[in-house]
Amino acid sequence: MSAPFIPLSAHPLHLETVQAFQAEHRLPAQEALARFEQLVAAKTGVAFAVAVSSGTAAIHLALKLAGVRPGDVVLAPAFTYVATINPIRYLGAEPLLIDAEEDTWNLDPTLLREAIQDCLQRGKRPAACLVVNTYGTPAKWGAILAACGEHGIPVIEDAAESLGATVDEKPSGSLGDIGITSFNTNKVVTCFGGGAVLLKDEQQAERVLYWATQARSALPYYEHREVGYNYRMSPLQALWGLTDLPELDERVRRRRAVFQRYREELGDLITKMQHEDAGAYSNRWLSSFVFRGERALALQQHLLELRIESRPLWNPMHHQPAFSDVNAYRNGVSDRLFRSGICLPSGHRLSADDQERVVAVICHFFRQATNG
Ligand SMILES: Cc1ncc(COP(=O)(O)O)c(C=O)c1O
Repeated sequence: MSAPFIPLSAHPLHLETVQAFQAEHRLPAQEALARFEQLVAAKTGVAFAVAVSSGTAAIHLALKLAGVRPGDVVLAPAFTYVATINPIRYLGAEPLLIDAEEDTWNLDPTLLREAIQDCLQRGKRPAACLVVNTYGTPAKWGAILAACGEHGIPVIEDAAESLGATVDEKPSGSLGDIGITSFNTNKVVTCFGGGAVLLKDEQQAERVLYWATQARSALPYYEHREVGYNYRMSPLQALWGLTDLPELDERVRRRRAVFQRYREELGDLITKMQHEDAGAYSNRWLSSFVFRGERALALQQHLLELRIESRPLWNPMHHQPAFSDVNAYRNGVSDRLFRSGICLPSGHRLSADDQERVVAVICHFFRQATNG
């Protein structure tokens, strides 16, 4: 009999939990959305949250709110998931990619400064800077905010992966001028699809809601003065979120424990991992490590043959054919991470026995490589 499959991270479809919640509260659709938004705002330390259909939609609206227009330059990390970058292009703007630093694997503040200076010299102040806390580990926020703040560049925090992380006890989502998060199926907390724009100002929240609901004017008849989007979250997703989000802190504790066990048990097979900067607390969304040698894809294949799911680290955006024309400030860090790193099963439901099996398989893989 084959061993049970160990997923990267999995959320069971516990419909009965949502049904029990709704049987008790009987929330009308609008009320479900409003309550979910209040809870999201409270958990992310912002005044207002607008629930939308995805994190990608949230980034699109956040960039629009920051005033990004066709032809503008938007600074963004090279080492991220493509959803960070695509919405820049939806607005006809130009991504300017910044490589990662070695400590947290996030946007490198030194390269960021260099890029900003070059843009200013060309007379083109970047319209916004997107910052990701990749795999849930906070970026070097102090240095990034200082670099952007000196030139009035709005910072958008893409907290899709980092819900529950903090910097100096400030929740991820509230670290930039505008925040976004995602509730898609693979995140720490899920609505099985969905996202939110996180805002400090009520007028901004109204604006985002207006764009997300087809930009309909507040009139008794249908009038649309701008092009809008059908980006509103469904009340069913909001209900799911109302039952899932209260578990955030406990799930983060479990994910951190999973990361810590890998770290202890894989010992010196690990050559790199994400470090928490001073004052930072990672949610360890995905336990990600660089191992000896450049054998990430072979290890991933070996794990899969033994029914263990894993993922390579991000293939940097400057290697994506869709962005081959985009400028990038590179230092080789994201290239090296991609060649030699891997995300291991990291779910808050991962059992100790299953994690032992993952560790044993990895140790065996490297022993064989040494002997062979
Ligand atoms: C860094 C990052 N940004 C944005 C997104 C987009 O979120 P969604 O899948 O909800 O559109 C994701 C995840 O999917 C992500 O990992």
